Amino acid sequence: QHHREIDKYLYSMRFSDETLRDIMSRFRMEMEKGLGRDTNPTATVKMLPTFVRSIPDGSEKGDFIALDLGGSNFRILRVKVSHEKKQTVQMESQNYETPEDIIHGSGSRLFDHVAECLGDFMEKQNIKDKKLPVGFTFSFPCAHTKLDEAVLLTWTKRFKASGVEGMDVVKLLNKAIKKRGDYDADIMAVVNDTVGTMMTCGFDDQRCEVGIIIGTGTNACYMEELRHIDMVEGDEGRMCINTEWGAFGDDGMLEDIRTEFDREIDRGSLNPGKQLFEKMVSGMYMGELVRLILVKMAKEGLLFEGRITPELLTKGKFETKHISAIEKTKEGLTKAKEILTRLGVEPSADDCIAVQHVCAIVSFRSANLIAATLGAILARLKDNKNIPRLRTTVGIDGSLYKMHPQYSRRLHKTVRRLVPECDVRFLLSESGSGKGAALVTAWASRLADQTR
Ligand code: BG6
Ligand code: GLC
Repeated sequence: QHHREIDKYLYSMRFSDETLRDIMSRFRMEMEKGLGRDTNPTATVKMLPTFVRSIPDGSEKGDFIALDLGGSNFRILRVKVSHEKKQTVQMESQNYETPEDIIHGSGSRLFDHVAECLGDFMEKQNIKDKKLPVGFTFSFPCAHTKLDEAVLLTWTKRFKASGVEGMDVVKLLNKAIKKRGDYDADIMAVVNDTVGTMMTCGFDDQRCEVGIIIGTGTNACYMEELRHIDMVEGDEGRMCINTEWGAFGDDGMLEDIRTEFDREIDRGSLNPGKQLFEKMVSGMYMGELVRLILVKMAKEGLLFEGRITPELLTKGKFETKHISAIEKTKEGLTKAKEILTRLGVEPSADDCIAVQHVCAIVSFRSANLIAATLGAILARLKDNKNIPRLRTTVGIDGSLYKMHPQYSRRLHKTVRRLVPECDVRFLLSESGSGKGAALVTAWASRLADQTR
């Protein structure tokens, strides 16, 4: 009974497979637009060349440092890749804070902070006197002309430090390190977190040729035929493309499926008008989407007997991790009661059921939309290879995918329905993107040695 009312209320958040297939083909067109030299300047899905040309081949070795900045944690890792009988990887890591005044302050302070944390890490590892090769996972859109140059195109998610957009982050970090003068570092490669994830998973499964993140933000990369990448010289082999699919819809392509809630989220964000797809699906925004829906429903008397509290009205008070808790099969309703009680709305049993259903609709929409964009990538890979069936592996990471109790199952199911001609293995990256960044760095430093 209650469910049907909410279904009607949130009608525009539920998609038929026909709509999903339509979105899938729109995304395919966006990908092509981004890849073309003439169409790229006006494309919203940027399809950025990464200069990563292959997945790990098992021959990488060495001692590396990996920086992992831009997801929900700032982490520094030491990654030792050795080759006895078999290739093995040993990792140690430490998380560092990134306070809001630093990610919203000046760029030079942000990079001073990164350099300071790196110094601290090297001190603790007792390697301050060494010059280890560093791989930098920087999870923002960057333009590359080579592996160790990455010009930030625009900040996304929670970051907005001044004076960094349009700059090469390798130069900025090197400058901050030089200024300190207490240690040296060799930044060999900058990779997007999707690329690091694909490489991490590629270490265990050679078939991995797609990397996706469903966390604070969302994005995907995949291996594209070089002959299709107009922006890079050469026709032989493949290169990893960072799609930056979070920006899908920034040119109005998704207006027919965006709701009043999506528009409100966008208006209140750090980057209005940008990353519109990301704002419909990723962890940074999903909790807030649910909160906006609950406020409206309460105002209309459909929830909490119309009670509206200051907490319920406070931006950020309802988080994506609460959606994950509320959608748990067994304890979900108890969690709903706890969480809503903390918001002061005195929920009835019916209210808890209703809120659980709202959460399900919002998280289902997210999984469905990502299934559509991922389906487009898989279909493209299959066409590139010109084969009737594609067997492939997708490497995945991100807090939303990992923490939500139903998300992965729903995503897998919808992908298999949308692209039945693809046999997909979904591989969770157990160790984040750092290992992958180290493998790219291994490759880069070997190349540097050869040409030295
Ligand atoms: C981590 C990766 O595991 O996941 C990061 O190491 C990545 O590189 C992150 O950015 C994405 O997820 P979230 O939820 O932290 O944004
Ligand atoms: C945002 C960033 C992108 C990153 C994604 C996941 O969309 O623009 O580069 O991969 O978040 O962290």
